[in-house]
Amino acid sequence: MSNNLNATDEKHLRRALELAREGMGLASPNPYVGAVVCDGAGELAGTGFHTYEGKKHAEVTALEKAGDRARSGTLYLNLEPCCHTGRTGPCTDAVIASGVKRVVAATGDPNPQVAGKGFEKLRTAGIEVTIADGDLRDEARKLNESFAKYIQFSTPLVTLKAGMTLDGKIAPPPGESDNPSALGANTASGGWITSQEARAHVQKLRHESDAIMVGVGTVIADDPLLTDRTGMARRRPLLRVIIDSRLRLPLESRLAKTANNDLIVFCAFAEEKRKRELESRGIVVEQLPLYPEQDHYVVGGRPIKSASGRPDMRNLAKRLGELEITSLLIEGGALVNWAALAAGIVDKVFLYYAPKILAGTGAVPFASGEGFRHVSEAAHVKSISLHRFGEDFAVEGYLKDPYEPRVEGRTTNGPSVVYEGV
Ligand SMILES: NC(=O)c1ccc[n+]([C@@H]2O[C@H](COP(=O)([O-])OP(=O)(O)OC[C@H]3O[C@@H](n4cnc5c(N)ncnc54)[C@H](OP(=O)(O)O)[C@@H]3O)[C@@H](O)[C@H]2O)c1
Ligand SMILES: [Zn+2]
Repeated sequence: MSNNLNATDEKHLRRALELAREGMGLASPNPYVGAVVCDGAGELAGTGFHTYEGKKHAEVTALEKAGDRARSGTLYLNLEPCCHTGRTGPCTDAVIASGVKRVVAATGDPNPQVAGKGFEKLRTAGIEVTIADGDLRDEARKLNESFAKYIQFSTPLVTLKAGMTLDGKIAPPPGESDNPSALGANTASGGWITSQEARAHVQKLRHESDAIMVGVGTVIADDPLLTDRTGMARRRPLLRVIIDSRLRLPLESRLAKTANNDLIVFCAFAEEKRKRELESRGIVVEQLPLYPEQDHYVVGGRPIKSASGRPDMRNLAKRLGELEITSLLIEGGALVNWAALAAGIVDKVFLYYAPKILAGTGAVPFASGEGFRHVSEAAHVKSISLHRFGEDFAVEGYLKDPYEPRVEGRTTNGPSVVYEGV
């Protein structure tokens, strides 16, 4: 419910949000935008949604469909219209030229180039502008949270996902399989932890993501494919990212066998022959800067040793941003989960829990490594929502608000990295 909209406004704005979702998998690195135009009598006159390939912005499509009927009508949008020239001209010009007398938007544009200036331009032209509050605003902000993070910080929204037992184990002890060092030794041989419903939802998360990442440890243990199997259209293939310091990725892994320029391995040392071997199979290999030798994070005033000799997670996020990746789903395992948390690159978590208890010290924990030593230092998950999937449930929550301006990163004075609070 929005407090400042009537039932008709709400209905059309909800439709605009639905239309925006049609761009799922097709709009990135641009935002999801849907538009509805009603004529002066309140009758539906045109709709539109944005896809990157389609190029045209949603409001322009909807206004073109409405034609003259837009005059004295109302335009409903989930996002503030742009007022700058990108691949297309400013939408505010098209809105003003259309003759609509009112614009109802669910939320402002987080793009610093727009951020309120679009609304201002419309108001200056004499158009009445209403910005929703309540649920509709929250829904609209959630829908474009990856875009919000990417456009402000040039790095993807990072979601840490794991499927685990109630006692926080993501796998049974590695030694429990017949041949623990064999590729894929852990692969669902002992059964999946989470239910089929939960795993189907993970596919949805993958569909909504531009990239997915695991550590080479998970490749060796599980031999995963890491594909989007929803069958829904996407403009770019899901970029499969492996973090693998010394190129241990097995050539006989399902990932290596299915690589088609959609598999990128970030390493610390690229031995030339090995690199060529991987590249000849359509695998992209990139060397990333290491965590500096004496480098450490400072959490709650205490230094946390970083993974020396391994690629720096913050550089990884930066590099993915350069590749126009707006969202990254990290699917483990234990060491990579910790490294991502410790580096402070995680924005949100999506943690699935099955009502099972593995117990024991040998089972693989959600995040290993050094861990936070004091409750006061623990990563604090906020704005939590709970989801049910059959007998499983999931916790979705935020470590950082993707819309919130923040200061983070490396200090230049001195050897250590100061990162306060994850
Ligand atoms: N239930 C779930 O949701 C789920 C999901 C995934 C995995 N798992 C389980 O997790 C287990 C694997 O966990 P794992 O910890 O062995 O594997 P992992 O976290 O996937 O991979 C760890 C490896 O990644 C490499 N790496 C590269 N850069 C790194 C960095 N900056 N920080 C940390 N590691 C980096 C390291 O190898 P190098 O030093 O050679 O680079 C490291 O040994 C398996 O049992 C698997 O079944 C469960
Ligand atoms: Zn626009």
